[in-house]
Amino acid sequence: MKILMVCLGNICRSPLAEGIMRSKLPDSFFVDSAGTIDMHKGSNPDKRSVKTAAKYGIDISKQCSRPITTEDLNHFDKIYCMDLSNFENVISLAQNEEQRSKISLLMEAADLNHASGEVPDPYWSELDGFEKVYHQLDEACEKIAQKLLISKTQNS
Ligand code: 4NP
Repeated sequence: MKILMVCLGNICRSPLAEGIMRSKLPDSFFVDSAGTIDMHKGSNPDKRSVKTAAKYGIDISKQCSRPITTEDLNHFDKIYCMDLSNFENVISLAQNEEQRSKISLLMEAADLNHASGEVPDPYWSELDGFEKVYHQLDEACEKIAQKLLISKTQNS
């Protein structure tokens, strides 16, 4: 099972989501992240995301930003988008129904409807904005990880 977390720049939210999700799943799951823009291509995550993840024992410092590609829609089984704008941008890359069916809003996939179904962009906030995003992501990833682990057990 291959999971892709997507946000705008792939330096704040999706690197955190990648690190958190990876920490909740066995190695048989492949977890990656990407952005819908290439502005930060090659950069490590934002220092505030790195610092917040480290506070909870998760090292995301070596991740490297990259833009999503059309090939990702073939390669990955589940593509979780942080907000509606990311979702619409990723959907616009899909070439068929199979690809479209892989793409969802992270909060919807987790059956969580607070924060209007979106993970807010913390880029312009202080560290406390990253802390809030961390907890929102942790709750959503926990729910999704449980679902994925249950369906894996049922299918094996
Ligand atoms: P992210 O946050 O999408 O969570 O990585 C942002 C990163 C960069 C920018 C905006 C949001 N930016 O405008 O460069």
